[in-house]
Amino acid sequence: MTEQINYTTNPNVDWTTPMLDLHGVNKKYLEGTDAEVHAVRNADFKVYKGEMVALMGPSGSGKTTLLNLIGGLTPATSGSIQINDIEVTDLNEEERTKLRRNSIGYIFQHFNLLEFLTAEQNVMLPLLTQGYSDAQAKRRTTMMLRELGLGGRLEHFPSELSGGQEQRVAIGRSLITNPAIILGDEPTGDLDRSAEEGVLNMFRRINKEKKQTLLLVTHSEWIGSKCDRIIRIENGEIVQTGLEVTS
Ligand SMILES: Nc1ncnc2c1ncn2[C@@H]1O[C@H](COP(=O)(O)OP(=O)(O)OP(=O)(O)O)[C@@H](O)[C@H]1O
Ligand SMILES: [Mg+2]
Repeated sequence: MTEQINYTTNPNVDWTTPMLDLHGVNKKYLEGTDAEVHAVRNADFKVYKGEMVALMGPSGSGKTTLLNLIGGLTPATSGSIQINDIEVTDLNEEERTKLRRNSIGYIFQHFNLLEFLTAEQNVMLPLLTQGYSDAQAKRRTTMMLRELGLGGRLEHFPSELSGGQEQRVAIGRSLITNPAIILGDEPTGDLDRSAEEGVLNMFRRINKEKKQTLLLVTHSEWIGSKCDRIIRIENGEIVQTGLEVTS
């Protein structure tokens, strides 16, 4: 597939700096068995610094797998995955954890909140891990949760929150450290349109103000239309990068 960088309407994009660079990435689950699933096939694409990109495709097409490969949560069967020039596939477990902690905001499809921590504590945790004082972390967290419409839910545990509220806590946790890249797995899947719009505006604002790069898995064509471009995956194969030559 010939790629031409022709997208210029988002002035925040630095087209000289790929934040994500995938080359010939394959993922096979249960490799070599009769039940082998070739979940990602020869994926080859870039996401540039400051882009806000949607990743779309049918259920089971490999979106979560692709995000897990990029975040170093699942090992690739073959291929190269670079984040900001760091080869993820070369890193050991500890280095991958460090990369995630320092550079990646990960919003999981199923939230993965810590059940024994309150909303506030869940969001604060990444800051405390980075060495912020309790008071500093609390201040930032309160602001973030207020902005997400959860100012009245700071002391609630995940089991006391609705699905959409849990999702917003997960979003807060991923954004609180201002990571260079945000990987969102259906980050607005459990939200109604008004909450979805609020989160989308927040994503756009951090993209604009802090030049953060976002890759957002979504089933919503509406969200897709609000992103800079749409990468489409079908049956494990990238069928559209949104940067194809159109002439
Ligand atoms: N741990 C696993 N072991 C074996 N097969 C898996 C595993 N995880 C995912 N798969 C398979 O890999 C394929 C891609 O799954 P994936 O979760 O990446 O899809 P998805 O695009 O995120 O779907 P959805 O939109 O439903 O979340 C599916 O066929 C799935 O059954
Ligand atoms: Mg998924």
